[in-house]
Amino acid sequence: MGGIYGSAALDPSIAFADPIQPPDLTKCGPASVTTTGPTVQCCPPFKGPDNIIDFKLPSPRERVRTRPAAHLVDKAYIKKYERAIQLMRSLPDDDPRSFKQQADVHCAYCNGAYDQIGFPETGLQVHFSWIFFPFHRLYLYFFERILGKLIDDPTFALPYWNWDSPPGMNMPAIFTDPNSPLYDPIRNPTHSDPSFMLDLDWSREDIVVSPEEQIKSNLNLMNTQMVSGAKKRTLFFGTPLKAGDAAANTGQGSIERSPHMNIHIWTGDPKQAHTEDMGNFYSAGRDPIFYCHHANVDRMWDLWKTLGPRRTDFTDPDWLEAAFVFYDEDKNLVRCKVKDCLDSRKLNYDYQKVPLPWLDTKRTPKAKKKTLANAFATKKRELTPLSAFPLVLNKAISVVVPRGKRSRTVVEKEEEEEILVVEGIEFDRGNVVKFDVALNDEDDTGVPAGPQDTEFAGTFVNVPHREKQGAPSFKAVLRLGITDLLEDLGADDDDTVVVTLVPKVGEVKIGGLKIDYITD
Ligand code: C2O
Repeated sequence: MGGIYGSAALDPSIAFADPIQPPDLTKCGPASVTTTGPTVQCCPPFKGPDNIIDFKLPSPRERVRTRPAAHLVDKAYIKKYERAIQLMRSLPDDDPRSFKQQADVHCAYCNGAYDQIGFPETGLQVHFSWIFFPFHRLYLYFFERILGKLIDDPTFALPYWNWDSPPGMNMPAIFTDPNSPLYDPIRNPTHSDPSFMLDLDWSREDIVVSPEEQIKSNLNLMNTQMVSGAKKRTLFFGTPLKAGDAAANTGQGSIERSPHMNIHIWTGDPKQAHTEDMGNFYSAGRDPIFYCHHANVDRMWDLWKTLGPRRTDFTDPDWLEAAFVFYDEDKNLVRCKVKDCLDSRKLNYDYQKVPLPWLDTKRTPKAKKKTLANAFATKKRELTPLSAFPLVLNKAISVVVPRGKRSRTVVEKEEEEEILVVEGIEFDRGNVVKFDVALNDEDDTGVPAGPQDTEFAGTFVNVPHREKQGAPSFKAVLRLGITDLLEDLGADDDDTVVVTLVPKVGEVKIGGLKIDYITD
C-alpha cells in the first residue's frame, strides 16, 4: 500500500479520482438488522432530487460553539440540552429534523439501505474505512445545529463523553436519569450506574478490577490507539475506500476499532436480540448518548492532528471528494464533501480543553531476549505454523512471523512504520466479534496480555450490522503499527516476532499474518 495515497495529489491521475458518491435517496431500500435478521425501514422523508443544495461553511461571524465534557456541565446546560432533545423528540416522525429521522440517518448509512451509485451490488457503508471520521463529523454537525435552532440558541454545543480521561470513564450521569429525555431504557443496566467503571477494552464480560488497574488499562489503550499505534494516516483513519469498493473488505482506523466499537457494545443491552440500542448500527442513533460518544470520537481527530508534524489529513482526492447528504436545521437536503469538514474551527465548533493523561502513558519496557522462539519452546508453549492458516480462531494461538527489516535507524523508522497485518478476517457481520493481539507474550499464567501489559498490540472489534450483500464472505484486514511496541519489547533486533491471537467474543476465521512496512 505504502506511499501511493499521500502522493496522489501531485499526480496527473487525479482526473481519474473515484470518490464515494452520495447515495441516491430515491433508491433507498429496507435496512437489515443482522445478516439473517428482520428488516427495518429507515429511509429519509425524501421529496425529490431537485432540492439538494451544496454545503457552505457557516458564517465566521457566528459565535463558536464549545462542546463541553459531559461530566463538567452545569445545571443550566443540562436543562437547555434536555429541552432541545425533548423538542426534537416531539417533532413529527416525518420531519427530517425529528429525533426518529436523525437516528435513522445512521441506520440507513450503516445497515445496507443504500447502494453505491453505479454499483448496485455494493452497499454504501460508512464504517471500517477512511470515511468513518468525516461522515460522523458531518452527521453530528447537523444534529447539533438542529438542536440549537430548536431552542433558538446559536451557540448550543453537544457534550462529549470524555472516556479518554479518568473522570469520564463511566456512563455520564446526565444520561442516566429515567425521567430525562436524554435517557434510553435499552442499555446495559449494570453499566447505567455512573459509579460503574468503563472498560475501554470490554469483551462482553464485566471483570471488575481496582479503579487504578482499570485506569491504567484504559490509558494504555488510548496511548496505543492515538500515539504509538497511529503514526501513519492509514493506521489512524483507516484504509482507503473508493467508489465500488465494499467497506467490509477494508481496514478500520485505530480509534474506530477501539475504544469506539467497544463503547458501543458496552453501552448496548446484552439481553436484546441485537444488542440494541448502542450495540447495533441500525439502532445506535436512538440513544442520545450516541451523539455524546461520537463527539469524543470526533475530538480525537482534532487531537491526533496536534500530536506531530506528519499527522495531517489525507490529500488524496478520493478522500477529499467523497460525499454524503444530510438535512440541515432548515430542512434543506445538503450535499457535503469530506473536504468541507477537515477543520472543525471552520465549522464553528471547538472542544472544551481538559487534560490528556494518555499522552505520556508509557508501557514498561521489557528486557531484551536472546531468541524468543526458543523461550517459547523451553516453556513448552505450542506454536502454530504460518502454514496452518487459514484457520478458525477457537483458542489462543501463537505464531512466529518473520520480519523483513530489523535494527532500523531512527530516520528509517520515521519514514516507514512496521505493521502487523492480520489478513482475511471472516466473520458474520451480524454478530459481536472481538479478538486481541499481543506480541512476544511469553507469560504462561494462562492470562493473555491485555491493554495493561506491554505486550498488547491491539484488538479487532465488530459492532453488529448488516452489509448490503449480507454474505459473510467478506474479508476484513487488521493493521497494527508496532515500531514503538517492538522497541519497548526489546525485540527490535530480532528476525521474527511471536504473534499471539486471543479470541474474545464470537467466531472468526483468520486468513494469515505478515509483517509489512508502510509510509502513509
Ligand atoms: Cu456510525 Cu459509532 O458508529
